[in-house]
Amino acid sequence: MRVAVFASGRGSNFDALWGAAKDPSFPARLELLLSDRPDAPVIAKARSSNISTQIIPLESKRGVWEPRAVTDVLARLREARIEGICLAGFMRVVPSEILDFCSGKVLNIHPSLLPAFPGLHAQRQALQAGVKVAGCTVHFVDEGVDTGPIILQASVPVFDDDTEEALASRILVEEHRIYPEALRLLATERLHRVGRRVFVRAECSTPSTTPGEKHEF
Ligand code: GRF
Repeated sequence: MRVAVFASGRGSNFDALWGAAKDPSFPARLELLLSDRPDAPVIAKARSSNISTQIIPLESKRGVWEPRAVTDVLARLREARIEGICLAGFMRVVPSEILDFCSGKVLNIHPSLLPAFPGLHAQRQALQAGVKVAGCTVHFVDEGVDTGPIILQASVPVFDDDTEEALASRILVEEHRIYPEALRLLATERLHRVGRRVFVRAECSTPSTTPGEKHEF
């Protein structure tokens, strides 16, 4: 599977995906890095990994994509024959035209156990809510913010003396583990969606179908 990563910042999840995809037996290749921030550290990481990069010129408001930007990104995805997208700290909502281009094969990683604490500062929200267990979620992307069907989750404990930074670092270790794993499952067509539920098929098994269920992939 030919994959584009969309990222706005530091790029540690980009690194984790890139590290996994370097293994010749991994079923996905990172072909393109798109960023809305010309100064994002992830761009230098992609360049040093010899991945083609593109800056998407977007308006400053979070949800706004210039129609021209959508057209340019679609052209670039088409040119690179991209089949799937991983959002990795991408601070924009992705327009439906781009989700459709990849037939919904668009993943995101979020640093909470969704549906708890969507949006910004998920670790701060977790501490403020007083939860004892936090974690991260890889999910399919839909048109909302952190609302798509859940693929994989991992949990970590919350300690009494945790700061936001300490909790974020503990969660990040799990992010770097489950994101490549979710991409591997997607690329080997082992994810089976029924409504909002996502099931992982056993390797080499034949999918079972219940009449009337909608199987998206
Ligand atoms: C991660 O915590 C990810 O879950 C969230 O944004 C952060 C990105 O970090 N969506 P990085 O740029 O991958 O290091």
